[in-house]
Amino acid sequence: MKYFFLSLIALSILVVGVFGFRGDKFSQAPIQVFPDMDDQDKVKAQTPDSFFADGMGSRKPVMGTIPRNAQAGVMPVEFGAGRAGYYFDGKKDGTFGNGLPDDLKIGSEADMTGLLGRGEDMFNVHCAICHGKAGDGKGVVGYHLGKVGVTVPSLYAFPQDKFPDGYIYEVISNGKGLMGGYKHNLPVRDRWAIVSYLRALQASAK
Ligand code: HEC
Repeated sequence: MKYFFLSLIALSILVVGVFGFRGDKFSQAPIQVFPDMDDQDKVKAQTPDSFFADGMGSRKPVMGTIPRNAQAGVMPVEFGAGRAGYYFDGKKDGTFGNGLPDDLKIGSEADMTGLLGRGEDMFNVHCAICHGKAGDGKGVVGYHLGKVGVTVPSLYAFPQDKFPDGYIYEVISNGKGLMGGYKHNLPVRDRWAIVSYLRALQASAK
C-alpha cells in the first residue's frame, strides 16, 4: 500500500510537471532538454551584424548585378552615389539635359519596350500613390494630402521643353519641396526608366 501511494504521488508530479503548465507564461526562458530548432543563427531585419565588415545585417544589392530573366533595357544595379556624368546626375555641361543617357544602351525597339515596362512597374510602385497611376496628381495619398492643404502636382505640368529629363531625374533622386527623394530606393537605371515612362504618360494625356 505504501508503494502505491508513493508511486501515485510520483506519477501526479510527473503528469503535472509535464502537462500542467503548458500554455502558461513565464518570465524566464524554459529549460530546453531538446532544443530542436528553437534558436537559430539568423539575421533579423534591420539589425546590426558583426559578420559583415560594415556591421550591417541588411545587405545592399550587389553592384553591377543583373536580375535573372532580365528584360532588355535592364541595367546592372548602380545607385550612383557621388558619381558624375549625365547618367548619374542628369547634367550635361552643368545644366539639366534632355534625352536618354547612352549608358542605358537602348539600341532597339525591344530595349525601349523593356525600359518603359520597367518604368511603368516602378512608377506604379513608387509614384502612383501620390501622383496617380495616370500621373494626373490624383493618387490616394495625393487626395488625402489635399485635405491638409498639400497639393500633389499633375505630372502633365512638367513638359520636356521646360523641365528636361535630367531635371525629372534629379527630382526623383533628391526630391523637391515636400516630396522626398528616391535615390536610396531606386537604382539609377530605374529612375531613368521612370523618366521615360513619365514622358509616355504625358504624351498619352495630350
Ligand atoms: C508622398 C507623395 C509623393 C510621392 C510618392 C511622389 N511624389 Fe512627386 N511630388 C509630391 C509633392 C507633394 C510634390 C510637390 C512638391 C513641392 O513643390 O513642394 C511633388 C512634385 C513632383 C514633381 C514636380 C517637381 C517640381 O519641379 O515642382 C515631379 C516631376 C514629381 N513629383 C515626380 C515624382 C515621381 C517620378 C515620383 C516617383 C518616383 C514621385 N514624384 C513620387 C509628392 C509625391
